Formats: sequence, C-alpha cells, structure tokens
Amino acid sequence: MHITGTDKHKVIHGDALEALRSLPDNSVELIFADPPYNIGKNFNGHVERWESDEAYLNWCYEWLLLCVNKLKTNGSFYVMTATQFMPYFDIFLRGKLEILSRLVWSYDSSGVQAKNYFGSMYEPILFCVKDKKNYTFNSSDILVEAKTGAKRKLIDYRKATPTVYNSEKVPGNVWDFPRVRYRMSEYENHPTQKPVALLERIIKASSNQGDLILDPFSGTFTTSFVAKELNRSSIGVELQEDYVKIGLRRLQLAKEYKGEKLEKELRSFEVKNTISNGQQTLFTLDGTYIHK
Ligand SMILES: C[S@@+](CC[C@H](N)C(=O)[O-])C[C@H]1O[C@@H](n2cnc3c(N)ncnc32)[C@H](O)[C@@H]1O
Repeated sequence: MHITGTDKHKVIHGDALEALRSLPDNSVELIFADPPYNIGKNFNGHVERWESDEAYLNWCYEWLLLCVNKLKTNGSFYVMTATQFMPYFDIFLRGKLEILSRLVWSYDSSGVQAKNYFGSMYEPILFCVKDKKNYTFNSSDILVEAKTGAKRKLIDYRKATPTVYNSEKVPGNVWDFPRVRYRMSEYENHPTQKPVALLERIIKASSNQGDLILDPFSGTFTTSFVAKELNRSSIGVELQEDYVKIGLRRLQLAKEYKGEKLEKELRSFEVKNTISNGQQTLFTLDGTYIHK
C-alpha cells in the first residue's frame, strides 16, 4: 500500500480491504463505493470475475462492514453494484444502517445492444445513513426544476390563497445523467468511469465543506476530483497503477510518476496522425509535435 497526497487529498495505491482496515473507525463523513461488479469487466488487463457469486458477495460483505465502521455517527454511505447483486447488499446493510433511498441512475440507451431481452439502462445505488435523526442532507444545494411550477406555471387553487407551484424540488430517486462518453471533456481511459454530475449531486447533498469523503474503489478518482472542486477532503483507494496515475493528475497532486510525465492521453479526434517511412508521427490539432 502506497499513500501519496496532501493533508486534504490522499491517493492510496493498494487494496481496498487493507486501506479500509488502516483507517480509524468513526472518521469519515461520506463514503461512495463503486466496486467491481463481478460481470467480467476488463480493468486494464485485470478481468474482474470471482469464482462464484457467493465468493464475490463474501468479499463485498467484508468491505461493506468496514465502510459501516469507518463512517461517523452522522455519516452517509452510497454504494453501487450490478442490479443482480444489489438485493444482497440491501439485505446485508439493512440491520447495520438506515437505507433512506434506493436510487436508480438511469442513462441513455445508445450503448444497449440487447435484441432478445430488455437491455439494462440503469444502475442501482443505495443511499444509507448511520442515524436517520442525525445526518447531513443539503436539499437546497441540489434542487432541480419542478416542471409543474417552472414550465406549466400552474396555480394551486386548493390553498386558501391560490399559490403558484414551486419551480424547484429535491430530485426523486430516479436520476438521469448521461454516461461518460469518449468525446466528453471529463473522459478518462477507464471502462466504468462515473460522471462528475452524479458525484456532484451526492457530495453536495451528503457532505459539507471540509468534510472527509472516502472512495475505496476510485477508478478515475471522480469522487476525489469532485470533492476537491467542492472544498471537501478526500481519500481515494485504487488497486491499478494506471488508474492511480489518472488520480494523481486529476487531483493535481503530481506532475510526474516514476519519471513519467502525467499528461492526459489525447483522444483520436485531438491528434493529426501522420505516417511517413513507416514511422508514426503525432501532432495535436494546434500543431504541437508529440513524441511517440
Ligand atoms: C467500478 S470501478 C470504479 C470507477 C470509479 N467510480 C470512477 O468514477 O472512475 C472499480 C475500480 O475498483 C478497482 N479495484 C478492483 N479491486 C480493487 C481492490 N481490491 N482494491 C481497490 N481497488 C480495486 C478497479 O481497478 C476499478 O478501477
């Protein structure tokens, strides 16, 4: 396990279980956990697949319990997994935390290829707290448009004095955010990167400035990146070195890693590709030469 960073933002290169065990109990205001889903995704050559569903769930129960212990008494926990495993998470966590919302992150369908069944267009997220009488929920920071009031300008005549319906409301439990696409500026080279907008809603709602936010499966470090933007502190854990490098760059914690410059990989539409004498030469669109 290797830790880099500052007092406010730490990147831990290592195993989630080991990192979680090393943290003090009762020390974190918000945890967002987006583990491997046991559906055969390829994380940089490391294919995540457990020998059985039971083995996957037993591994999950270990870190789920550690997360519960690391949360402060007023803390909140958001956790994701594949739809088929979420019922097990739900039942496991029920006696340990209060599950306040069963959220659906719903997204556009263009990637769905299923022809013989109904393709998946959502991922579930559990929102839990340790104490339902004492937790942070900044509803006014996450308001969305309420169509009845804002678009249709309807008036509620049932009230003693007729009043225009509210034009804003707290979002319901179905959240529409596009998945991160190759052409989006936030895109990083990772198969399951979560959108900044999703983490913004979670972090704004369930933490305050200065709070500590932990993500035990950081991937591209979206959680830590948004935590920093919103003046929170963060601890991000990730097993794969290539993703740790993304985190160090995104959080501006390092310019180099083991002698390698940490620069965002240019995407195909950002480079002019010239091949002469069998040699490949790359230029950015503004004409800068890139050594390959
Ligand atoms: C679903 S992805 C997280 C994506 C992340 N939320 C983002 O926005 O980019 C899960 C990540 O967990 C990492 N991982 C897998 N096993 C791990 C372990 N035992 N400890 C820490 N990280 C692990 C994988 O390399 C992968 O990057």
